[in-house]
Amino acid sequence: MANPFDMVLFGGGGDLALRKLIPALYRAHMEGSLAEGCRILPVCRRQDDADQYLDTAQDALKKHLRDGEYSDSVWKEFSQLLRPVALDIAVPDEQWDQLADILGADEARGRLFYLAIPPGVFGPCCENLSLKGLINEQSRVVVEKPLGYNAQTSDEINSKIASYFPENNIFRIDHYLGKETVQNLLALRFSNVLFEHLWDASTIDHIQISISETVGLEGRAGFYDDTGALRDMVQNHLLQLLCLIAMESPNKMCAKNIRAEKIKVLEALRPLVGEGVDKNVVRGQYVAGGLGTQLVPGYLEELEAAGSNTETFVAIRAHIDNWRWAGVPFYLRTGKRMEKRCAEIVIQYKKVSHRVYDESAGDIIPNRLVIRLQPEESIKLVLMAKKMDSLTTELQPAELNLTLSDTYDSFRSDAYKRLMLDAAANNSALFIHRDEVAAAWSWVDPIIDYWRETNSQPHLYRAGSWGPQAASELLARDGRHWFNP
Ligand code: BG6
Repeated sequence: MANPFDMVLFGGGGDLALRKLIPALYRAHMEGSLAEGCRILPVCRRQDDADQYLDTAQDALKKHLRDGEYSDSVWKEFSQLLRPVALDIAVPDEQWDQLADILGADEARGRLFYLAIPPGVFGPCCENLSLKGLINEQSRVVVEKPLGYNAQTSDEINSKIASYFPENNIFRIDHYLGKETVQNLLALRFSNVLFEHLWDASTIDHIQISISETVGLEGRAGFYDDTGALRDMVQNHLLQLLCLIAMESPNKMCAKNIRAEKIKVLEALRPLVGEGVDKNVVRGQYVAGGLGTQLVPGYLEELEAAGSNTETFVAIRAHIDNWRWAGVPFYLRTGKRMEKRCAEIVIQYKKVSHRVYDESAGDIIPNRLVIRLQPEESIKLVLMAKKMDSLTTELQPAELNLTLSDTYDSFRSDAYKRLMLDAAANNSALFIHRDEVAAAWSWVDPIIDYWRETNSQPHLYRAGSWGPQAASELLARDGRHWFNP
């Protein structure tokens, strides 16, 4: 358990805070992970909102906690930790003094500033914290994606924050890294000798990494239409998963070593520029369709706009130009309003090098390792085996299945809870270094530039499908297909 700390939640009344952060802190309190004396200071812009904050937070908890998590008695205790404050982030007036008074002068106490606010105000917020003398040696700042809009704006934001906080005290969140299942990728790779020699171009044919979502815009139309799937999901979550799958073993599981290995992967990504974008990237946008029995509107109807070429789906064929991965394509895919919600990594092995069975034994299907990260966690290995009870030798695929969600019946992870507690304990292993953000943007930027220069239009796909036909063709050209969950 971390020592008692104060967490100042800028944007305390916003969507992220009420939907994710307050519930995560409630869970941390419920399981006893918040040391006695911790305080949470949600910052609201208006005094009225601060006055009503406890009611707002209670409603949000009732709405966003999972079944059975909310109870009046836990809320009563948890609400004692909340100390709402009203101030204007951009104006360093006397309202800030109230915050300073609550924080006090205890230099030894951990102090976290969580910026759940638009990146445009990160700079003024840090500046005012500094102006008011609120940054001390124990202060850390936690920032959320999107960190900018491209390499340049991201660099500007990072430089601004860096003028007030040293890199070691800046915690950049990618909530995917807080997922237990994502951390398990590292455990799987680096604590099993089994995979050690079967993790490179000599045995692997290709790798697929997919994050499909069934949700649409979820009331974030303005933000999403300016952002699109490439910036919203690929620049961060998908590239982080790619790094964890492709990186070399760190010497030790510590922040410095893990980050160094991830950066090497990002730097080895073959740039996609000019016509290379047309050949290797497919962008899509959903039109009305059916999700299960429900009819859902198309992107433009949800957006209430006559036209927009923002992509809600991306599929990419990527290559990592290094010794381990030479010639192995990584197919990345993400989209909104797809048939199923699922995050999955498929490692497709090569064919056996020499066939010893004659034709009558049937096809020998190459091995496949399927790691499902959500909604449930499982690891499946597809092997070939002899068909039992048959006098002739016939081969057939058999599966080794490990369903981790069954093993851990009461398993309920919360990525934000984990990351906030890590930041409080000064453990930065699951956070993103500035150089990683920069490397990811410099791979993504030329794709966006090319789309803009060529006025590229997205391929349409029906809501409730697996994306546009062009995404299937991307793999079909290589003689492959997507493994849809
Ligand atoms: C966020 C994106 O970072 O991740 C959202 O901004 C997306 O658009 C979400 O829906 C997906 O997260 P998860 O944890 O539900 O897979």
